[in-house]
Amino acid sequence: MHDRIVSDIDIDQDIRVARTLPARVYADPEIFKAQRERIFARTWHYAGHDDLVKVVGHVYPFTLLPGALEEPLLLTRDATDRIRCLSNVCTHRGTLVVEGAGHLQQLRCRYHGRRFTLDGRFHSMPEFEGTKDFPSPADDLPNVPIGSWELFLLVSLAPVMPVADVLAPLVARLSGLPFSTLAFDPLSARDYFVNANWALYIDNYLEGFHIPYVHSSLAETLDYGEYGVELARYGVVQLGIAKEGEPAFELPPDHPDDGRRVAADDVQRLPLGHISQRRHATRRRSHSRVISAIRLGRIEATAGRGRGSRSCRARGRSGRRGGAARCALATV
Ligand code: FES
Ligand SMILES: [Fe+2]
Repeated sequence: MHDRIVSDIDIDQDIRVARTLPARVYADPEIFKAQRERIFARTWHYAGHDDLVKVVGHVYPFTLLPGALEEPLLLTRDATDRIRCLSNVCTHRGTLVVEGAGHLQQLRCRYHGRRFTLDGRFHSMPEFEGTKDFPSPADDLPNVPIGSWELFLLVSLAPVMPVADVLAPLVARLSGLPFSTLAFDPLSARDYFVNANWALYIDNYLEGFHIPYVHSSLAETLDYGEYGVELARYGVVQLGIAKEGEPAFELPPDHPDDGRRVAADDVQRLPLGHISQRRHATRRRSHSRVISAIRLGRIEATAGRGRGSRSCRARGRSGRRGGAARCALATV
């Protein structure tokens, strides 16, 4: 499979002769299946913020990457005040153990009553007295690797890199911001459905050629010629430099971008997901810092959708067409 995926794809390091990837990369279900196993399962994904499990006993079930990994997971805060991410699939017959957020002493599967502690360990099971070699570690709910930065939680099913390496560009650029004072505001949150293969969406994010055409208000604010793209080991940093007279951040002296008139910086982890984005508010949105912790969400990460989206426009809940600055927030 691996050979078939990459052997006939010509990727030239020289951008002057490089070509767009063949259409099957965006549409072949077999390629998407391989991407699920080799990319999505092995990398870190935003899972939520730590307020979801604020006190001991809080539980929060969620599905990791709906449409791609589709993995039922559970955030808990265990008896030692530690945040865990557990498999939410009962080790008896696979029922979802926790079906809604709440506050629990123990986790109890409602199919046959198997109980687990908040750290995932098997606790008890009715009618199983006398069963040999039971329980065993296989009866515990597996712990899934979890990492955090500030209030953001990240998880990975089978990580091939330390979470700290993924977070390094964020820490370098956004440390010092008052994350601990932020609270999630559901009324300000928007989900966007992007009807495209995930890689097409990422392609769009990585190029700035469409900014003058699709993002007119952004183009008015930013110096397009100064737009910066920096590759990190596991992500990319994009820097929007303000035009003369446009507002820019006041950066501390030890900041990597000290001396540059940064109006927007986006840190994108690959393959999916803004973890953090901030941009200086435009005139329309008052003159203060806007820091958005974008919830990893609903990008349509399925194969076979073709290359339907010609721009990064997205439809929000309101049904209005997104464009311009809204596109910048239409993130996974
Ligand atoms: S499936 Fe959970 S106890 Fe049987
Ligand atoms: Fe865009």
